[in-house]
Amino acid sequence: MAFVEDAFASNWLSTVGPNIDALEVEFESLTGRPAVAVSSGTAAIHLGLRLLGVGHGDEVFCSDLTFVAMCNPVLYLGAEPVLLDSDFATWNLDPNVLEDALRERAEKNKLPRALVVAHLYGGCADLDPILALCQDYGVPVLEDAAESLGSQYKDKPVGTFGDLGVFSLNGNKIITATGGGILLSSNASWIERARFWSQQARDTGAGYQHSELGYNYALSNVLAGIARGQLQVLNRRVAERRAVALRYQRAFEDLAGISPMPQPEWCLPTTWLSCFLINEQEFGASRDSLIRGLEEANIESRPVWKPMHLQPLYSDCERFGGAVAEELHRHGICLPSSSSLAEEDQLRVVNIVRGAVGASPLSRLGSRV
Ligand SMILES: Cc1ncc(COP(=O)(O)O)c(C=O)c1O
Repeated sequence: MAFVEDAFASNWLSTVGPNIDALEVEFESLTGRPAVAVSSGTAAIHLGLRLLGVGHGDEVFCSDLTFVAMCNPVLYLGAEPVLLDSDFATWNLDPNVLEDALRERAEKNKLPRALVVAHLYGGCADLDPILALCQDYGVPVLEDAAESLGSQYKDKPVGTFGDLGVFSLNGNKIITATGGGILLSSNASWIERARFWSQQARDTGAGYQHSELGYNYALSNVLAGIARGQLQVLNRRVAERRAVALRYQRAFEDLAGISPMPQPEWCLPTTWLSCFLINEQEFGASRDSLIRGLEEANIESRPVWKPMHLQPLYSDCERFGGAVAEELHRHGICLPSSSSLAEEDQLRVVNIVRGAVGASPLSRLGSRV
């Protein structure tokens, strides 16, 4: 509130102002990379792909399992996504599938202009093999860490490994500006360029002259104030989300056929959402019946993302891999995961899930978290 009030008091009710400048500096100190604040994560991806030279007729490799906002900017630029499957070990991009796809495209002399790799649900894609492969083939990498602000891959923040990284400050994320996005790169001149494009690409000088195509993608100084306040509680929010995830895991430990999204030892996840994979035969109930049971108690849960190749918009795209993303979508569930989820509310969720397979209700959740 103090940052927002300051924006009003100083009359910086605009897409320039001190909160924006400070937010960018704060993201740079958090990640070690120059950053530009923009109006959404989608806008940040759009700018990032343009920085990588993506244009008409290019191919861009993309994780198949993701939210549609990640791939849409590929279409904005007239390029074509090529969809790559996940693995069960991370639920994120399978490096083996990437290797096959790169080899096949190299043989055809048709390497993609870029790879966009998602870090879903506060987890991490296995970046080392992914980056090594892309380096071998000379393909730049944009990390879509929209859902994973605060997660670490081998002790470093995700979003800081590729040529570019993106975070989202949308209302549903671990911290929010109500809407907003951050684009990061170790290349400071790229960040300057993205900032220029995000502000309508107005040439320097007093005249309203424009030599390049720009966008109205700048973040509001008021919203940057919200983001600054939120950034101060990021660590607390991460701890709260992890506590929620741990309580679910303990509460389902004695049940067969319900397993949390894996957390490889090299990933320190935020568990932005607590997601589980249901093996219907072992569990004794289907994922859909769980969603319905929760719904009847006025509790919202969601399936894991619908992969892009199942979307009418992307069904014609070329695809590499098997049916992992599809399997995760059909049998994965995201349970209520808010940082502010009260223990008694979480206990209700837990007991509906347990009740669906006739397991005894718990009277309280694990107290050791
Ligand atoms: C994986 C992924 N990419 C991109 C986005 C887009 O971010 P935004 O909503 O800030 O545009 C989101 C979330 O909305 C997302 O989940």
